[in-house]
Amino acid sequence: QERLKAFGKDSDFAPKHVHVVGAGVMGGDIAAVCALRGMRVTLQDQSVERIAPAIQRAAKLFERRYKGDARQVRFALDRLIPDPQGQGVPRADLIIEAIFENLEVKRSLFADLERRAKPEAVLATNTSSLRLEDIATVLQDPSRLVGIHFFNPVPMLPLVEVVQGEATDAAVLRRATGFVRAIDKLPLPVKSAPGFLVNAVLGPYMLEALRCVEEGRSPETVDAALVRFGMPIGPVELVDTVGLDIAVAAGKALAGEGATPPQRLLRLVEEGRLGRKSGEGYYRWVDGKAQKGE
Ligand code: NAI
Repeated sequence: QERLKAFGKDSDFAPKHVHVVGAGVMGGDIAAVCALRGMRVTLQDQSVERIAPAIQRAAKLFERRYKGDARQVRFALDRLIPDPQGQGVPRADLIIEAIFENLEVKRSLFADLERRAKPEAVLATNTSSLRLEDIATVLQDPSRLVGIHFFNPVPMLPLVEVVQGEATDAAVLRRATGFVRAIDKLPLPVKSAPGFLVNAVLGPYMLEALRCVEEGRSPETVDAALVRFGMPIGPVELVDTVGLDIAVAAGKALAGEGATPPQRLLRLVEEGRLGRKSGEGYYRWVDGKAQKGE
């Protein structure tokens, strides 16, 4: 009840400056959506070569949304600043982490962010499968950490889960919720439990689809069946879109370390075939489209 009340009175927090760490599939698009809504955004990545493609993707989004209004596109691009060294951290009102799904890597990043960020800045993670409590142990003040869990593709999907860890401060939650509304998305309050809400439901669905493929049906057949049923995208194509490495991590979080993921999924990950982002997974991907056979 307390939690619902907290969410009932959203703050109108609209950060002026958002710093995003990780310019991959998620971080790049999160940064773009914030810039689209008028926020100043600094985008950091340890691999500097990840930043330019993210900005190119953002430029395409701005062109579509501003319907070719070159001035608006330029303003939005000016708001989105490549920041390989993380110089935006001390100035940001909100810092969103979207780096590899690895607890130790996230922990060391957050320890550093807390030291360098403004004391009132909100620290947020986009993790899909790690417990907030496990990340927050490195923080002097664990109540500052909140989950802001976007879905892929970020520009298209309106729902964002706002994740409350055991220690998360109610005011931080309200600010995170206010931010989600400020970027015109729908905040869904969830507790820090495996899969939160959406992936707890979607995970077993995608897993069953991969099992069908394991048993000999083609990805095309499985996907066509679910699309004809009414889903906007087939479950195997969805796994490719999410990223096969992310799917394995999320599967472990949902089903426990002892669970055995489908063999083909593990093999593809070992081969570096991670889905759309690497150009191949269950499908081959060309220009952002899965290449489907008959
Ligand atoms: P990705 O692999 O596409 O991008 C991660 C980026 O983080 C890479 O560019 C990498 O160079 C950078 N990075 C790694 N460690 C870093 C560090 N210490 N400092 C700076 N940059 C660093 O990964 P993706 O798919 O964007 O996932 C990122 C996070 O978002 C993960 O926590 C994942 O669980 C979560 N997520 C992913 C979704 C998906 O559909 N892929 C959906 C929702 C959440």
